[in-house]
Amino acid sequence: MKITSTQLVRAAAVASKYSASPYSRFKVGAALLTRAGEIIGGANVESASYGLTCCAERIALFKALTDGKKNFVAMAVVARCDGGPTPCGACRQLLMEYAPDAKVFVADSNDLKSIRDFTVRELLPAAFVSLP
Ligand code: THU
Repeated sequence: MKITSTQLVRAAAVASKYSASPYSRFKVGAALLTRAGEIIGGANVESASYGLTCCAERIALFKALTDGKKNFVAMAVVARCDGGPTPCGACRQLLMEYAPDAKVFVADSNDLKSIRDFTVRELLPAAFVSLP
């Protein structure tokens, strides 16, 4: 069964409900899609020691990787911000390493049908890819 960008964005919106963000109150959800059609959700997790915070994108990616999933074809990210939240630099780096061929769909939680799409490669041009 082919998963559409709209379905993946909806899965990210569902994932955002489990955001643990008592400090920013900015709920972000991510949903990662594998070639096999599996969807892995994640949400941002914050700490009283603010720097320990982890973005929704990385939570979804780390969940998927440590559950043995691979061959990621797309990720959706949803939050309440105009145009939808594009991944931060750290998440772009991880996506480049583990999901370089993935599409990235972003949407505002108030307007899930307006989806912007990117590739990981366009989000992180000239990426660092490996040690010599
Ligand atoms: N955040 C994400 O989850 N993903 C992003 O792409 C950007 C920021 C989270 C981290 C923090 O919990 C909150 O949003 C505010 O920065």
